[in-house]
Amino acid sequence: MYKTKNDLPEEVRAKAVELLNARLADAIDLQSQTKHAHWNVKGPDFISLHELFDKINDDVEEYVDLIAERAVQLGGIAEGTARVAAKRSTLPEYGAKGGNGRDHVDALSTALAAFGKAARQAVDALDELDDADSTDILTEVSRGIDKWLWFVEAHLQADR
Ligand SMILES: [Fe+2]
Repeated sequence: MYKTKNDLPEEVRAKAVELLNARLADAIDLQSQTKHAHWNVKGPDFISLHELFDKINDDVEEYVDLIAERAVQLGGIAEGTARVAAKRSTLPEYGAKGGNGRDHVDALSTALAAFGKAARQAVDALDELDDADSTDILTEVSRGIDKWLWFVEAHLQADR
């Protein structure tokens, strides 16, 4: 940990950095899965899904940056290489192999839901640490992810 004039106790900062780095790994994994979907989707809904997945990528890229920079603000190191992310990510392996749009919708909604669940758990843990600002960041992230989960999952929800 780096020295900082930030008044949060070092113990709090260290625990928050650990929680942030865990979610950073998931977010980097989610971003690469989202781009993978953007590149490989085919079929009758190609253009709408291709564009939707890229919009999701734009937001996830912002979440990666928000989470990483919060870790650094607290005196930590943002552990954001692809190798670390691949080792630490808690997301399942991306589930679509070919180009089928429905398969990509299913795979990406699974990834978004898994990320959202872990982000919410981080909100609770960061709140417990009394780190209101990290809690706010993860709340913003999970709120955005829930919106994108809705956009993706709606493709599968015509029937109840
Ligand atoms: Fe592109």
